[in-house]
Amino acid sequence: MTSVSVRVPAKVNLQLSVGPIRDDGYHDLVNVFHAVSLFDEVTAAPAAGLEVSVEAAPHSRVAIGGVPTDGGNLAARAARLVAGRLGVEPGVALRIRKAIPVAGGMAGGSADAAAALVACARLWDDRDRPVLTRDDLLELGAELGSDVPFALLGGTAIGVGRGERLTPALSRGTFHWVFATADGGLSTPAVYAECDRLREAGERPAAWPRVSEDLMTALATGDAKTLGAALVNDLQPAALALRPSLRRTLATGRDLGAVGAVVSGSGPTCAFLVANEEHAADLAADLDGAGVAEQIVVAAGPVPGATVL
Ligand code: C5P
Repeated sequence: MTSVSVRVPAKVNLQLSVGPIRDDGYHDLVNVFHAVSLFDEVTAAPAAGLEVSVEAAPHSRVAIGGVPTDGGNLAARAARLVAGRLGVEPGVALRIRKAIPVAGGMAGGSADAAAALVACARLWDDRDRPVLTRDDLLELGAELGSDVPFALLGGTAIGVGRGERLTPALSRGTFHWVFATADGGLSTPAVYAECDRLREAGERPAAWPRVSEDLMTALATGDAKTLGAALVNDLQPAALALRPSLRRTLATGRDLGAVGAVVSGSGPTCAFLVANEEHAADLAADLDGAGVAEQIVVAAGPVPGATVL
């Protein structure tokens, strides 16, 4: 086989309820993931050793400067995991084309890892070796990061535990989104640590996270306005504390008619839900004009997870 290309979506969190910190340093979550039509592409080709290259996708202005190209890249770690499981040498060149913001709260690194798992499993597929099943890949994904299994699955799903134990959520129709990216990323561990610090300072201990019934009803009925009102992100106060300018970005999107406005995951990307495709184009133009974001991206969800092209 010459090469395998895999397309993988970004995610936005419709609900991110952060519970108490666990002994392993992670937090128990209710994390309702939603995959949107903003894609990275990973191509795996046979090579003598493990090589990684990263570039911005055509027409994308993603700043790729912060993405490691050594063995620490999450996609490279994914390749080594697959090679180890199959008992082969990790001889593969991974070419990553990014449209998902880096350190933007849209799980771009996790998406690349999921794509690399699928691409390498296919590249090294051989009838002499055991086949890696979907469950095997989900298990390897969970080893790489809490958001990796969802990037394999896609759609809309409820994640519990660290966010890696997934159940698909019932959802109707298509939702339209506008994303406002920021100049410079936020570190996920730093945002979780700030969330803990704010809770401690305010003497507000974390409650046990529960799935929002309002959110599930909104998803099942496919009503954007109800969904917009039900968006929750417990990391938002921490992201706003670390990046105060996001307040203005969120307020501007709301003033311009978004039916929902929320920081995506640990930020700093802001997600705006709108009623339909036409509103998405209008809001994108207005937000661009308001100058409150680095880049404006329009997308729709749900879309499938990592897919071989
Ligand atoms: O699992 P992943 O490596 O993507 O997590 C990145 C960081 O996010 C962790 O090191 C931790 O600081 C934080 N995190 C957390 N609780 C979770 C998921 C992530 O505290 N459930």
